[in-house]
Formats: sequence, structure tokens, C-alpha cells
Amino acid sequence: MLSLGRYCIWVPSQPEKNIEQHIKDLRENIVFHNNLYYGDDTPQISDGEYDELYRELVALEEEYPEFITPDSPTQKVNTFLQSSFSPVEHLVPMLSLDNAFSDEDLRSWRDRVVKVLGSEEVDFVVEPKMDGLAISLVYEDGKLIRGATRGDGSTGEDVTENIKSISTIPHVLKDVPDLMEVRGEVYMPIRAFEALNDRQRENEAKVFANPRNAAAGSLRVKDSSITASRDLGFFAYQIGQLSDQSVISSHNQTLELFHRSGLPVNEKIINADSIDKAFEQCRHLESMRHSLPYEIDGVVIKVDDFALREKLGFTSRFPRWAIAYKFPPEEKTTLLHDIKVSVGRTGRATPFAVLEPVFVGGSTVSMATLHNEDEVARRNVRPGDTVIVRKAGDVIPEVVGPIESLRPKDSKAWKFPKKCPSCSKPLIRPEGEAQHRCWNVKCPARISTGIEYFASRGAMDIEGLGGKRILQFLDQGLISDVADIYSITKEQLLELEKTKDKSADNLISAIEKSKSQPLWRLLVAFGIRHVGPQAAKALSSNYEDIHAIANAKLEELENLEGLGDVIARSVKDFFALDSNDDLVKRLELAGVNVRGEKQESSRISNEFDSFTFVLTGTLPSYTREQIAEMIVARGGKVSSSISKNTSYLIAGDKAGSKLTKAEALDVEILDEEQFLKLIN
Ligand code: IVH
Repeated sequence: MLSLGRYCIWVPSQPEKNIEQHIKDLRENIVFHNNLYYGDDTPQISDGEYDELYRELVALEEEYPEFITPDSPTQKVNTFLQSSFSPVEHLVPMLSLDNAFSDEDLRSWRDRVVKVLGSEEVDFVVEPKMDGLAISLVYEDGKLIRGATRGDGSTGEDVTENIKSISTIPHVLKDVPDLMEVRGEVYMPIRAFEALNDRQRENEAKVFANPRNAAAGSLRVKDSSITASRDLGFFAYQIGQLSDQSVISSHNQTLELFHRSGLPVNEKIINADSIDKAFEQCRHLESMRHSLPYEIDGVVIKVDDFALREKLGFTSRFPRWAIAYKFPPEEKTTLLHDIKVSVGRTGRATPFAVLEPVFVGGSTVSMATLHNEDEVARRNVRPGDTVIVRKAGDVIPEVVGPIESLRPKDSKAWKFPKKCPSCSKPLIRPEGEAQHRCWNVKCPARISTGIEYFASRGAMDIEGLGGKRILQFLDQGLISDVADIYSITKEQLLELEKTKDKSADNLISAIEKSKSQPLWRLLVAFGIRHVGPQAAKALSSNYEDIHAIANAKLEELENLEGLGDVIARSVKDFFALDSNDDLVKRLELAGVNVRGEKQESSRISNEFDSFTFVLTGTLPSYTREQIAEMIVARGGKVSSSISKNTSYLIAGDKAGSKLTKAEALDVEILDEEQFLKLIN
């Protein structure tokens, strides 16, 4: 913005719009991974990558506070999507911990602590950071009456029966106050984890990525005898609610009370009277992490004295009196046998490394993506190389580069294959792009990954319809696209190799169930470019059905809150294709739900028929979504950006660039109260 005396000239700022979109994308991405981590126990990215996303969001929101929304993951404790357990309100919120990644981060945390307390004399307690899942145990008159997961921090899941089946958690405590809530970590010892995965493999059941997921997966089951069979461990590390506060005034006393009463407390916990000593312990625990019988992913440093903790207080997510020092990612070397290429549903051809299996960062790695041709060149890797594999905590491994001194003399640089490994049609890399593609829409690899995506958990969620099944169906000619899924019969399934009666029934009922999924899931399942859950929800809540979306004008889509021109264009392109139109018709005919959430009957008047509103900032009594509903119910439109066609801007607290732009364009600005008067 240029400022000329008291006048402001608005200079349209495209980058800022991109930043807002980028922040939204980051948020959506973080929530998506939170849900996988907390809801499904099947993360897709490493903790290190998650931390990076999170740090980027924090930094951007600091720079652009006008784009902070109350539902941002930075403003609340992690949430999970859905649960089949009863909800439990925590007596005291279960917060998370702020992270430190270096000596420097740790020192600046300590400096903040010293500054607030006005004293250099602070005693710390240093604890291994257990890589399991946080739980809360409520003891009444010394008896265990409830066990719950953390959930979103204020509401967790009631897993009492399962908790009671863990042999290391006492059902009765000696000499404790009437009400005592204990927090701690349920974890799976490494030996138990390896034995469990061996059994799972034998039974062709789900193999867990690491001990933490295995612990979470073992606690969040319906049958507590399964939990009992999984050899879970527990360490108590924090006090929650306590009926008699006078019995403890420090963390050391808390740990003593836990120990005396019969709760397991980690033996590696030490006291430190300086941050240097605490850091020394971080290094020590890091050097011995692999000789411990359980996984740790860092070290937790806590202020000991409760009176000092009280002075330090909390942010919305973290206590200021504790911090988690996270270990850096780990590296190992192994042999790169080959570089192969896989083709995804959009035709994108991705090279990946086939590795000699190696145990790194808590699990065995035998494959790693190499992203594209340039990345293979940048990493300078060849088949036959000994390479460094890096894993930040878990899940997504990375090939860092070769150890060139070990390169075989006769090795040759790898060349991107000219033909698709699935259909043998040419793989072409368009000019200016990094990615090769297979352009054959009939390519079996593209079709099968597209169907797999359609059926996946984040889309139509058809349990039991995974990659192997789909290939089998394609091979047998049972299906050729996603609409065919709905005509599969039980008899056809029973004719297939290795299909038992029960699994055929389960699959048929999962397919049937998916017919009533909300429309946004179907939109996600189509894999329309750029359309994730957020955009899909914006579409399905603003239209009566899929046909109304397909027929909507481009400008109309662009103006929807939560969309934007790139997504709108992509939606239009998708529905413009006759083959997609045909697919929609077949799905509808098969009984798949195509109705959106917008009901004509929700219209209560036409008073805003020609008005467009933009909402910004935090409103005092209603959420922006509620105000948007009131506008739409009166025939108005809600748009995400200000233009000269905007009728009103409704601005709340922390309104940023939209407010400035509205002022510059002379758009009338209302606060919540004025808006409510307008509609009354
Ligand atoms: S104290 C308000 N102590 O780390 C502080 N947490 O990143 C509550 N964790 O949710 C946590 N070991 O699941 C604390 N010794 C320890 C811990 C620990 C592991 C986990 C816990 C927490 C997460 C925060």
C-alpha cells in the first residue's frame, strides 16, 4: 500500500492473495496429517516434515496476523476426526509441548523463563520424551475409574476398559488424595513391537509403521483382550487434577508420589540446576536412544517448582514451563539396488529407489521416492551405489546421496525410461515441467491408482478395497472404472481366488455404505486437481447437487468462500469433459449420493438478492460461517475477496488487508452489531 498523506492508494497485491491461499493450504494439510496421526494411527509424513509444515505456518501467521483464523491448528490443540469411543471431557486440558530443535532454541526458551521469573535460579527436571501416546488416568479413592486418550486436548476418548487391561497400569493406588488425575505415556516396547509385526505378517494383517502407531492402534480397539495381548508399557509423568493440592509443590514431589503409590516412573529422569546440564542430558539420552528398550524421540525439560510454573503460565497450546527437545533425524547407509518408476492416477511418473532393507529412524526402509528426473540427478545416485538414507523420526524416508568412494567402477548414470512401465506408451516430460507423465488415459497403472484413490479413507472410504484387490478386479475384467465398483456382486467376489464368504460380505457392505457418503467426499474422490476436502466442502455446502456444481458459472465458483480462481477453473475443466459427465450419471444411477447440503428451503427472504458480502476478522458472537449462512438464507452471496462489486465488508477483530482494501475501494464496512441490525 502507498500512503499519500491521509489517503491510501490500494495497490492490488497478488502475492498476498497467494500467501492467504498458501496459509489455508498449509492449515488444511496440517489438519489432514493430524487426523491421520491422531485419528487413524497411520501417518503419511514424518514427524520432522510435520514439524516443518507447522513451523512454516507459525512463521507466516506471525508475519500476517490478519490471516489467523480461530480454527487454525496453531490456535488449538491437535484434533482428531472421528471416533467410535465415548467422549470424555478432561478435568484439566491436556496440552501439548512447544518444541526445541537445537541448543540455541533451548537457550532462548531458558532465557524467556529467566526473564519472566526475574531470577537465574531455576531448577529443571529432565525426562526422556516417550514416543507413545498421552493418556489421562483418573483415580478416585485410589481406584482407577477412568482412562482416556488426549483427543483434542479438552475432549478425549474413553478407553477405560482397554487401559485396565494393560498390566503395567495399577488399578489401585496406595496413600493418594481422594481424586487424582495422572497423565503419562502408553508405549510399546521395541521387542513387543517386533513380535507383534511378525504375528501380523503371518496373519496377513496390518503391519505397524513404528512402535508409537502400534501402541495407539492397540489402545484404540473395541476389544480390550486385544489391548491386553499387546504388552503395552506405561510411564506416569505429569499430574492433572488433584483434590488436595497441599501434598505436592514440585515436579520432583509429584514423581515421588507416583512412585510411592505404585505408578511406574521412568528411571532415566534426572534433575538439572542449569540449562547446560539439561542439554548435556539431551546429548546423553540421544547417544543411548538405541540401547533403550523403548523408543524416545526427544527429551522433555520441565521447571520443577509449581510456584514458578504458575508465574510462567500457558499459551493457548503449551505450558511455558516446559519444552520438548526433539532429536535430529537419523541417517544410515545401504545399497541402492535399482531405480524404478511408478505411475500414479494423474499419469505422473515418479522414480523411486529400491533399497536393501535397512532399519533407520525406528522402522525398516526398502523404498524411497526420488521425486523426478532432476532430483535423481541432483542427488547423484545410480543403481549399485551405497547411499545414505535419512528418516526424520518415521514414515517417509529420503535418499540423501551416494558415498562416491564406494561407487562400483562400471556403474552408469541412470536414465529416465522412455516407456511407461505399465502400458509401454511414451513417458513425456513437458517443457518447463519437472515431472514425466504417461498420457495414456487407459493406462492400467493410472486406472488402478485412480480407483484406489476413489476408495481411500479420505475419499469414499470403502474399507477392504485396496490396491491389490483393485488390480485383481481389473485383471478379471470386473471393473474398468470407479462406477463399475457399484455393480460388483457377492457371487463375482466368491469366484475370485482367496475370497472368503465373510470378506466378500464385508466388501459388499462397505461399497453399499459408501453410496451415502456426503457429496464432498465424492468430489474429493474424483481427484479433481487442487480440490481437497476444504474446497469440496465449500462446493457441496453451496449447491443443491452435483449437477448444480457442474452447471455453475466460472465467476460464481471463483467467488465462493474457500475456493479461488485456480480451483474454480479446475472444477469447470473437470465437468466440461463428456466422459466425466457420463461417470457422474452412472454413479447417480447406481445410487451414489450426489446431493449437496444447500437446501432451497433454507431461503428465508430475498432481501440481499443482489448483494455480495465479504467477511473478515474474528466476530464477537457469531462465527463467519454462521454469518455467511444468514446472508445466503436471505439471497446474498459471500465472496472471499474484496472488489468494487462488493456491497459490504463485515469486519471483526484482527481484520487485516481486506479492511484496508475495502476502505480504499469505498466499500461500506459493518461490524457484527450493524449487520444484525441490517437483517432485523
Ligand atoms: S509432559 C503439559 N512429559 O509429548 C505437558 N510429555 O509433545 C504435558 N511426552 O503429549 C506433557 N514424554 O504425549 C510430557 N516425559 C514427558 C513426555 C511427554 C512424552 C509426549 C506426550 C505429549 C507430547 C508433547
